[in-house]
Amino acid sequence: MEVIALVNQKGGVGKSTTAQLLGNGLRHKGKRVLFVDLDQQGNLTYGVGINSPVIGSYEVLTKRNNIDDAIVTSAQGDILPATNRLAGLDIELFSEIGKEYRLKEALEPLKNTYDVVIVDAPPTLSTVVINALTASTKVIIPTQADIYSLQGLSQLANTLQTIRQYTNPNLFLEGILITRYNDRAILTREITDMIDKTAQTLGTKVFDTKIREAIAVKEAQAMRTDLFEYAPKANVTMDCMAFIDELNL
Ligand SMILES: Nc1ncnc2c1ncn2[C@@H]1O[C@H](COP(=O)(O)OP(=O)(O)OP(=O)(O)O)[C@@H](O)[C@H]1O
Ligand SMILES: [Mg+2]
Repeated sequence: MEVIALVNQKGGVGKSTTAQLLGNGLRHKGKRVLFVDLDQQGNLTYGVGINSPVIGSYEVLTKRNNIDDAIVTSAQGDILPATNRLAGLDIELFSEIGKEYRLKEALEPLKNTYDVVIVDAPPTLSTVVINALTASTKVIIPTQADIYSLQGLSQLANTLQTIRQYTNPNLFLEGILITRYNDRAILTREITDMIDKTAQTLGTKVFDTKIREAIAVKEAQAMRTDLFEYAPKANVTMDCMAFIDELNL
C-alpha cells in the first residue's frame, strides 16, 4: 500500500485539488483508493460530497474511534473525513509519547484493503502534518510557479530532513508539482531558476507535467463531482492523466 501525502505549508497552492484529482484518476485506473483528509477546513471531504461527518480523522488520531468506524464511502470512493475538531489536535496530543505515529498505526490494518492512500494535509507544519509525513511512503509538493510559493519550500526541506532522521527514514520525496499553471504566461527565467534550485535543495525533481489552471476544475469542485466524469476531454484532465503516468505507481 502506497501512502502519498500532498504537503506544502503554504495555503492555496492546490494540495486538496491535487489530492482529489490524483485519487480519482487512480480509482479510474482500477486502484483501490482511500482519501484521508487531515485539514480542519475539510475541503477534500466536501469535494467528494460528504456533509458534516460525525466521526473523522480527529477521532482516529486521538484514538477515540477505530478507523473502520470513521471511513465513509462517497461517490468518489472511500474517505477518512475531516472535521474542524482537528483544530484542537496539537494541544490535545502535546505531551503524548508517539503522537507522530497515530496515522501510521491507524492505516496499518488497511494495508490489504487499499492500494493507495492519498493524504491531504493542511497549510501548516503541525502535528497532523508530521503524522502525514511519518505515515507516507511518498510525498508530493504541489506549488504554484511564483516566487512567494517557492520561498517557503526551504523550511519544508528542514522538516523533511527531521522526519527522515526521527520517524520515517524511508520517506521519499517524489517531486514538486507545478499547479494552477497558466499555459499562456511564459515562466520567467528567474522563476524557472528558482524552481530548479528549490528542487535541488530538496533533493528531488520537478515533474515534467504541470496541472494548468482551468475553469473545469472549479466547476467540478462547485458541483462536488469528479473532474474525470465532469470534463473527461478537458486539457486539465489530460494533465492529470499525464501526471499519474509520470508518477508511475
Ligand atoms: N488546476 C486548477 N485550476 C483551477 N483552479 C484551481 C486549480 N487547482 C486549484 N485551484 C483552486 O485554487 C484554490 C486553492 O486550491 P486548493 O484548495 O486545492 O489549495 P490547498 O493548497 O489545498 O489550499 P489550503 O492550503 O487552504 O488547504 C481553490 O479555490 C481551487 O479551486
Ligand atoms: Mg487544502
